[in-house]
Amino acid sequence: MADDLCFFIKDMLIIRAPVKNYLVLRICLVAFVMVCGVFMCSIGLKQISNFTKAGYIDTKMVARPCEMPNIEKWERSYVHFPKPATFNRAECACNPVRYFVISSTQRSGSGWFETLLNSHTNVSSNGEIFSVKPRRSNMSTIVDTLDKIYDLDWLTSASKNECTAAVGLKWMLNQGFLQNHEAITEYFKTKGVSVIFLFRRNLLRRRISILANAYDQSAKPLNGKHKSHAKILASYRPSINTTLLIPELKQADNMVKQALDYFNSTRHIILYYEDIIKNRSVLNDVQDFLRIPRMKLKSRQVKIHKGPLHEQVENWSDIQKVLNGTPYESFLHEDYRVS
Ligand SMILES: *[C@@H]1O[C@H](CO)[C@@H](O)[C@H](O)[C@H]1NC(C)=O
Ligand SMILES: *[C@@H]1O[C@H](CO)[C@@H](O)[C@H](O)[C@H]1NC(C)=O
Ligand SMILES: *[C@@H]1O[C@H](CO)[C@@H](O)[C@H](O)[C@H]1NC(C)=O
Ligand SMILES: *[C@@H]1O[C@H](CO)[C@@H](O)[C@H](O)[C@H]1NC(C)=O
Ligand SMILES: *[C@@H]1O[C@H](CO)[C@@H](O)[C@H](O)[C@H]1NC(C)=O
Ligand SMILES: *[C@@H]1O[C@H](CO)[C@@H](O)[C@H](O)[C@H]1NC(C)=O
Repeated sequence: MADDLCFFIKDMLIIRAPVKNYLVLRICLVAFVMVCGVFMCSIGLKQISNFTKAGYIDTKMVARPCEMPNIEKWERSYVHFPKPATFNRAECACNPVRYFVISSTQRSGSGWFETLLNSHTNVSSNGEIFSVKPRRSNMSTIVDTLDKIYDLDWLTSASKNECTAAVGLKWMLNQGFLQNHEAITEYFKTKGVSVIFLFRRNLLRRRISILANAYDQSAKPLNGKHKSHAKILASYRPSINTTLLIPELKQADNMVKQALDYFNSTRHIILYYEDIIKNRSVLNDVQDFLRIPRMKLKSRQVKIHKGPLHEQVENWSDIQKVLNGTPYESFLHEDYRVS
């Protein structure tokens, strides 16, 4: 009985095996045909799209044959021929454009420096674009904003339109610049953006300038109309909180060091406000850095607080006491004459 059952099962296996194999084979064949079909179809589509893409690029290249200037290979990624959506670059379509950013801190002369740059026929520096918070809310809004600026589609009073040879903006370290440093470095490198660092050597003078400016800001509404005139500002003498002075100087110093460290791998130049004041030939270095023809740059902006430092604060003797013997002692002495 048990043997019979065994045979019966064996028979079943023997009989059913070919049927099963046949079925599996058929399924395999159908699947194979299907996979083959999908594969061939995708290759065909790819080729078609490659073909159209190539054709598209070709026609574009034929339409606008911009020649690379005769420069070293490493520099080529910094040369651009933007095609703005808002206007036609016309006869300057093939003038190479460099992308830059002025990276600075508050009260370091960056406003003045930017007006100098913008006095150049071929420079468009579009101001402190990221002082508007939504533009720096995350990396995608930052990239959108930068793309628009570098495509020459950001229209401000600084826009030189067709014949721009260098386009950029002013960006303060605390406006998401340090915070998003990794992604921004990546963007600068892939997009070919050069960085102009502009800092102030004398951080004490900068501190005083911040206080004076804060006073100016609060004085504005009181007077009803814009009172940011240099004279009124200069007559105000802030008194500096001596307890906070050293930590504040240290923080400002660290922020600059951090920026230079984070962005060290980008193409950059480091400028100091005091050096430009002392010797305007620094401006030639900047123009060379941006590869724009040298011009005499002018600014009508008035510099404030020209006098010696000790005349500018209320409690100078306390400040001296606090800073003497510290790494910041030199800020008490270092000064510059405005020519
Ligand atoms: C970035 O910020 C914008 C505006 O605040 C917002 O609309 C968008 O969803 C944000 N994107 C990401 C990826 O967080
Ligand atoms: C600078 O601008 C002038 C006139 O706007 C133009 O003729 C010249 O080609 C430009 N120079 C560069 C280097 O783009
Ligand atoms: C200086 O700042 C510290 C800390 O904020 C504060 O405690 C102190 O009262 C301030 N001193 C003066 C004279 O305002
Ligand atoms: C400035 O110095 C004066 C003394 O000269 C002192 O009374 C005052 O508290 C100091 N101001 C600050 C803000 O520390
Ligand atoms: C940047 O890198 C160079 C060499 O690559 C180095 O000599 C320099 O000290 C670095 N600067 C900073 C601020 O890290
Ligand atoms: C300014 O600097 C340049 C070199 O950078 C130098 O040749 C020139 O003599 C300097 N001018 C003054 C007034 O110091």
